[in-house]
Amino acid sequence: MFGFHKCTAKKSRTVRGIVTSGYEQPAIPDTATCIRLMDEYGMLENIRHHSLVVAQIADALIVELLDDPVWAPERALVLAGALLHDIAKTPCLDGNCDHAAAGGDICRKHEYPEVAEIVEQHVILKDHDPDRYNSGRFTAMEIVYYADKRVRHNQVVSLEERLEYIIDHYGNDDPELHCLIRENFQRCRELEQALFRVLPFNAEALEQRIRFPQLPDKVLNNPWA
Ligand SMILES: [Fe+2]
Repeated sequence: MFGFHKCTAKKSRTVRGIVTSGYEQPAIPDTATCIRLMDEYGMLENIRHHSLVVAQIADALIVELLDDPVWAPERALVLAGALLHDIAKTPCLDGNCDHAAAGGDICRKHEYPEVAEIVEQHVILKDHDPDRYNSGRFTAMEIVYYADKRVRHNQVVSLEERLEYIIDHYGNDDPELHCLIRENFQRCRELEQALFRVLPFNAEALEQRIRFPQLPDKVLNNPWA
């Protein structure tokens, strides 16, 4: 019932319990590898904490969408995409690079092309497809894109609260940019409405659905090991 759009899906398969993708090489880093990449790219602790909460939220969504093992976005892919979505945020803090594009480059360099797509599109999705959303099919990219918009720093918030923060901090007092940001959030609202039409809980209850244990104070350690 749920899962990848048939036109864009790369058929997934499971080999010895390790979820792989349509690519020849293993394309999904496990959590320990994601944490190592955070170290390698000097991810600031606050960004790391944000990424861990986004991963919790994304996982809370994906476990409910796994009814159909054929078309469901792989849980491991969603988790890796969420953990790495801001992998280039720290080096791009000076404003000299686009952290989504740079993060995609990092993931491709490490031969994780599917994760790269998620990272590249976590700010703005290339494909906005309400008809597909309304048929109950979602991609890993959409899950991470949505999860990221529900987390401000390391707090789970509503889309409206996140929008307000983005406008304040990244809007540059530029009406045209504000308009683009609002347009992006409007698309995200449509995705949210479709998601919570099929999920057995509502958007406000998302935080209560987190399945991972509480994060340790020192998020440098792998909290799920
Ligand atoms: Fe983020």
